[in-house]
Amino acid sequence: MTKLITVLNGPNLNLLGQREPEKYGSKTLVDVEVEVTTLASELGLKVLFQQSNFEGGLVEMIHAARETSAGIIINPAAYSHTSVAVLDALNTYDGAVVEVHISNIHKREEFRHHSFVSARADGVIAGCGTQGYSLALRHIATLV
Ligand code: DQA
Repeated sequence: MTKLITVLNGPNLNLLGQREPEKYGSKTLVDVEVEVTTLASELGLKVLFQQSNFEGGLVEMIHAARETSAGIIINPAAYSHTSVAVLDALNTYDGAVVEVHISNIHKREEFRHHSFVSARADGVIAGCGTQGYSLALRHIATLV
């Protein structure tokens, strides 16, 4: 059976393309979804692409992935830097986890340098722009 990868996006990423394009680029989240979905079919995978502006929404999407998905690619956005709840949810998940940041969080304000999610991630991609999602998919394909 084709393996499913859940791709989760946190708060404000619904505004990708409009939001601070000098940091996050001009592609929309739908553009990224199309790219990742096309690559997934080349790699023999399926993707479920989701976004929530709510911490609890992300927690529930991670719980759902426990039943459905061989891997999770997650850009937790601002919750990377604050959310023990998202980390705890990921710690209930047995599959592969790759964390993505569009910008290089280590080159930005100090409060962005720490991500709670990185303690669970099998890989972390930061600063490669929206291309980071495709890089994450290629990597997770080797793990699942
Ligand atoms: C981000 C970086 C975070 O610090 C920020 O809060 C975001 C996006 C990124 O993709 O570069 O919303 O996760």
